[in-house]
Amino acid sequence: MSELERIAIEKAKEAVSLDRQGSREAAIARYKEAIQILSRLIGLTTSPVLHEVYKERMRQYLERLNALNDESPAKTIVRAGASKEEPHIEPAESGVRWSDVIGLEDAKRIIREAIVYPWLRPDLFPLGWPTGILLFGPPGCGKTLLAAAAANEVGATLYTLDAATVMSKWLGESEKNIATLFSKARDDLKKGKPVIVFIDEADSLTAQRYLEVGGEARARNQLLKEMDGLASKNKREYLYVIAATNKPWLLDEAFIRRFQKRIYVGPPDRETRLLILKHYTSSLKLAEDVDLEALADKTSNYSPADLYNICLDAHISTIREMFENGHDEPRKIAMSDFTAAIERRKPSISDEIVKKLVEWARKHEAL
Ligand SMILES: Nc1ncnc2c1ncn2[C@@H]1O[C@H](COP(=O)(O)OP(=O)(O)O)[C@@H](O)[C@H]1O
Ligand SMILES: [Mg+2]
Repeated sequence: MSELERIAIEKAKEAVSLDRQGSREAAIARYKEAIQILSRLIGLTTSPVLHEVYKERMRQYLERLNALNDESPAKTIVRAGASKEEPHIEPAESGVRWSDVIGLEDAKRIIREAIVYPWLRPDLFPLGWPTGILLFGPPGCGKTLLAAAAANEVGATLYTLDAATVMSKWLGESEKNIATLFSKARDDLKKGKPVIVFIDEADSLTAQRYLEVGGEARARNQLLKEMDGLASKNKREYLYVIAATNKPWLLDEAFIRRFQKRIYVGPPDRETRLLILKHYTSSLKLAEDVDLEALADKTSNYSPADLYNICLDAHISTIREMFENGHDEPRKIAMSDFTAAIERRKPSISDEIVKKLVEWARKHEAL
């Protein structure tokens, strides 16, 4: 249930961020997904308060969805960068542990070496340590998860900087928002704990096409300036910048150079998919006929996020059935629930995208 809520929020956040970037079609798709999940939540919740909350949210997204459907794409682009709300810059707590991140052993090791070891034994690092880490790879493969796990292990405060946080309705405020965030992050260092600034969808902050909207070119320059501030040689600070992107080729060289570590967070192979399926079904009641090995075979190009959603969908179909039939408990999840969920969901990854990313990795990876 709370997982479902989390997904609804994630979809909605994606929708809002795409909306602000002017990606109208994609935003519409995400709003629809968020609305769908909310309608399920409305059916599932027994709390009248939550019921109202979900309904209000759904109303808002529907309203925006209708507005987007009415708008011509051109108008949407002009609106990009102009957000209704002021950004709110608050650090987040993350409960994510390394064991929640399945596969990606190299990425986990490199990040631990960069962040955890210097924190435990700064005396072993006379030359300092890397403070910029760029994670690139297909969507839904664990970039955000890795940043959260790293933050959690060293008890770091995690600030997320994404297009939605940075964009402001006032031209020129974007760079101020970035400066504010970094100055808060530096203040936080005084508490004696590491601080991680996580730049999500880094490409949307620096990509050329966003520069034309206004303000974001200065945002990018401000970001570079802040990053130079932390890289200075004789400083030993536990302030890290971790950036994530699905489209690293949109980043410019000046930005890329600021990251000493550049790590490819690739799609899961068959064995990893099996581990992920096991992980996400471990708390579910499965029927005898469920064959996770066969599901792992069937799901190449499905991201870990896709696999998670497949497990969720399969589970939810039994819950829906329970409510519809007035039963007290859902039945066990059958193989057919999983195969139906797979059929309903297209893989987020394609061979073409992987090829492009691997090529970029060959030129830019730095481990
Ligand atoms: N390596 C992984 N192991 C387990 N779950 C994963 C993994 N990668 C992604 N997920 C699931 O997918 C969700 C989205 O992943 P995320 O880290 O946001 O992907 P990205 O940032 O690469 O787009 C996570 O919250 C988690 O539920
Ligand atoms: Mg992410």
